[in-house]
Amino acid sequence: MGTARTVPHHIAIVMDGNGRWATKRFLPRVAGHKKGLDVLRACVRHCGDLGVKVLTVFAFSSENWNRPADEVSGLMELLAAALSREVPQLQAEGVRIHFVGDRSALSEKVRSGLAQAEALTAGNHRLVFNVCFNYGGRWDITQAAAQLAARGGEAITELSLSRAMALAHVPDPDLVIRTGGELRISNFLLWQAAYSELYFSDKLWPEFDAAALDKAIADYSRRERRFGRTSEQLAPSARANRKAA
Ligand code: FPP
Repeated sequence: MGTARTVPHHIAIVMDGNGRWATKRFLPRVAGHKKGLDVLRACVRHCGDLGVKVLTVFAFSSENWNRPADEVSGLMELLAAALSREVPQLQAEGVRIHFVGDRSALSEKVRSGLAQAEALTAGNHRLVFNVCFNYGGRWDITQAAAQLAARGGEAITELSLSRAMALAHVPDPDLVIRTGGELRISNFLLWQAAYSELYFSDKLWPEFDAAALDKAIADYSRRERRFGRTSEQLAPSARANRKAA
């Protein structure tokens, strides 16, 4: 009450728990993903309203192909439907969308839908919304290294690798949230989350509402981010968060 909150510039989310949410209600798992999409829509809006500048979500991992065929096709259909239904609204809200991941395995129709959505929203600046689809942190590091090797002659440094990563257009996430109660990173943003604050929620993703996001941000605002330094080396403003906690 009355204390200033530090809103993270970049929030990244592992939206876990859709399947369990559906199963608890005797619904097919895909119904959980549909509800998850509703929650994601509200989350994008809330992030924009709060002044978060970048939101990155894990929508389909490189490993999700191993799920039952009907769930994989359900997620592909959800993506295709979301492209036509959601993009005009994102455009109206000033959201710039990026798809991050290996597109080579996606159908030609979906690939051109992704490219169109990116082109349509390319001039927006209120919120950058990265949807990681057929993404894995190891895939990203590997494709970045392969790019540098193919170019030849370029020194491999942290900077050159960072610039070849699929998320090179945004700064690293300040806060990584995982819902669904599991305490792991599951091949999400392995490189970029090196210094991110991690927040785990027991809520299943379909239950993660605006109040839950506010709670995660309030928790983040009390953390002291040291980036390898000592507490004493930090600027007074960075220490103030800790004191306020
Ligand atoms: C993890 O929950 C969630 C996913 C694999 C999919 C996330 C997708 C959405 C929230 C919808 C947005 C989709 C698009 C296409 C933009 P889980 O299925 O692993 O849940 P469980 O741990 O309870 O089984």
